[in-house]
Amino acid sequence: MKYFITTPIYYVNDRPHIGHVYTTIAADVLARWQRAKGFDVLFSTGTDENSQKSVEAAEAASQPVGEYVNEMAQRWEETFNKLGFTHDTFIRTTSPEHVKAVTTLLKKIQEKGDIYLDDYEGLYCTNIESFVAESELVDDKCPDSNSKPKKIKEKNYFFKLSKYRDQLLKYYKNNPDFVQPESARNKMLDYITNEMEDVSISRQSQEWGIRLPQNKDHAIYVWIDALINYLTVTGYPDNKEKFAKYWPADVHLIGKDIIKFHCAIWPAMLMSAGLPLPKKIFAHGFFTIDGQKISKSLGNAIDPLELQKEYPFDAIRYYLLRDIPFGNDGDFSHTRLLDRYNADLANGLGNLVSRVLNMIEQYWPDFDKSSIKPTAIEQNIDQANAYVEVLQFDQALTKIWDAIAWADLLIENKKPWELAKEGKTEEIKNTLGQLYEALVAINKAVAPFLPDTHQKLTQLLKARPLKKPIKPLFARK
Ligand code: MSP
Repeated sequence: MKYFITTPIYYVNDRPHIGHVYTTIAADVLARWQRAKGFDVLFSTGTDENSQKSVEAAEAASQPVGEYVNEMAQRWEETFNKLGFTHDTFIRTTSPEHVKAVTTLLKKIQEKGDIYLDDYEGLYCTNIESFVAESELVDDKCPDSNSKPKKIKEKNYFFKLSKYRDQLLKYYKNNPDFVQPESARNKMLDYITNEMEDVSISRQSQEWGIRLPQNKDHAIYVWIDALINYLTVTGYPDNKEKFAKYWPADVHLIGKDIIKFHCAIWPAMLMSAGLPLPKKIFAHGFFTIDGQKISKSLGNAIDPLELQKEYPFDAIRYYLLRDIPFGNDGDFSHTRLLDRYNADLANGLGNLVSRVLNMIEQYWPDFDKSSIKPTAIEQNIDQANAYVEVLQFDQALTKIWDAIAWADLLIENKKPWELAKEGKTEEIKNTLGQLYEALVAINKAVAPFLPDTHQKLTQLLKARPLKKPIKPLFARK
């Protein structure tokens, strides 16, 4: 069985910040989870480079744009590698294989008769790489980026998006889980029904970008090019075997800012080209940082590599997925991160591990795993697993931490040190056996969320005799 999961591909005009990393963490958890289940996973992420933002950023850095995007893409990839993400591909939209995929797909859409040339006159916001209607402006500015859009008047090629209105609505109706969560689905149903118009897919005056196959004077609109990355990474169009194996995607993970492109334009492009649609598109919420929008001008964007100097990355993964229900908006708070780190990781899981292993060492010297029976926490773990399947990561983690609380309570109730004084050997073995089994189950359940912790704990659970003192699982750097 295969599982194909994607993140958005990120613009290279800036360095990765904690918001970008959020989506990639969630995708990484799911990829690891599916691999552990035995699925053949393709997990893709990468960089969206053919944007005007790249051109502007390169100008600001006094660098040729090609050189600039190379450097930045490398920086993104290095960051993702340093954070330990397990993506199988890092796609760059300036790569020849991507250009081929884009050109091929657009030819298919052209053959279907879904592309036409027309005049375009209107406002364009480079910041979000999108047209903005006059009626959407707030104080003459684009409502999403708070910057002044440019007036554009040129000949553009258009994709007949509106032709797919009924087909899209029907698809949504027949596939109620296609777009999640419900809030994103409802927004899209409203947009498709009431607002969706044909979309311009080319820019006449742009030199940077993939050339439109039917007219090389035009660059392909960067969003059209970027969406096709999801096909490129499956080997489309040349590697037919790989493509047949992985396409359609099982889930596109995105932020709620880019649903229009993913949940209307992209499925319509696929319909036009006669290709199957992704099985699910999940749009998570946006978070602020200590109550403020992440923005360049405020300079509050957190560099994940800097944060990683203060906390093990497992702690950041844990905090983000535990504190913000996936799909909701939230806030990244340094205080909450520290609290969660101390309470749930160091004093919660970390403490339980050292207590249990030390007690086994002390009170059960001829420790024998084979005598241990399954524990009462299996139910919690099953529930946690069910929550991961539906991307409710906060609930899954809550269930795992319920299991930790159960184990703590068992220690408090049984007080193995008193059983030892009373010489109740069988009861000690029974209690410590249950606790050991609980650690094994908890260790398995936390694996996709806390991969480094999982590795350390696996070693500790295997080690016999234990080295004393046991190194704490969590230590601030
Ligand atoms: N290049 C496009 C996507 C093309 S996909 C075919 C793009 N790139 S982006 O660099 O702006 O990244 C946007 C994504 O970053 C969001 O959809 C979301 O996944 C993530 N986030 C950026 N800021 C975020 C927050 N403040 N909070 C949560 N996620 C954030 O759009």
